[in-house]
Amino acid sequence: MRKKIAAANWKMNKTFQEGTNLINEILGADIHLDNNQQVVFSVPFPYLMPIQEQIGGRSNFFVAAQNCHHKTSGAFTGETSVDMIASMGVQFCVVGHSERREYFAESNATIAEKVNLCLSKNITPIFCCGEPLAIREDEIQNDFVAVQLDESLFHLDQDAIQKVVIAYEPIWAIGTGKTASADQAQEMHAHLRSVLASKYGKDIANNISILYGGSVKGSNANELFSQPDVDGGLVGGASLVASEFIQIITALK
Ligand code: PGA
Repeated sequence: MRKKIAAANWKMNKTFQEGTNLINEILGADIHLDNNQQVVFSVPFPYLMPIQEQIGGRSNFFVAAQNCHHKTSGAFTGETSVDMIASMGVQFCVVGHSERREYFAESNATIAEKVNLCLSKNITPIFCCGEPLAIREDEIQNDFVAVQLDESLFHLDQDAIQKVVIAYEPIWAIGTGKTASADQAQEMHAHLRSVLASKYGKDIANNISILYGGSVKGSNANELFSQPDVDGGLVGGASLVASEFIQIITALK
């Protein structure tokens, strides 16, 4: 059965003290997760180790890196490799976030290399895709995201593809307060699943978690997560507020 996941994406926010306080508040809440539910905190690199220790092996809670480099090692000052992330016991890594694509010129091909490196180290890539506003206005978003999957994921074999988590994040909904409606999210998630099914078959497509991202909040998480093809969320702004994120985790039910 595919996992339901509430993934926080802190981006470049929170000092270390603020971050650990936030984690304490969330861990202190009376949250019960079923076996197939996971909570993932994508935190800045320097916090990965201490926050992982703070979580202390609590089952179904994990940390994630927000990025990794597409080469294995070498003279890339300021960068972090998948080997380094894996050596700290980190089990998830966000790849291809739209902010990385936009501000750091990441291409589908580079993101494919990151996906491969993550999988080679047993790190689950949280692969982000999603269209900008102009593409949505032209009503060609379905083809646009299908190309993102094709160029970054479809070289994977049947085993490997099932180890990827996909996050659909329409760029026009990220940090804008403009959430895709539950219908829009469901429509796109069903499309993504059908694209996966046409490449890998229905059973495999049904086994892959597809998260929605873009202005998920405590108040809309229930409706979004109750859509049949929406398996949770990748959450930026609202993951920085304990009460909001707790509500979002609770909406996995
Ligand atoms: P947002 O960000 O929830 O603040 O819209 C989502 C994301 O970028 O992952």
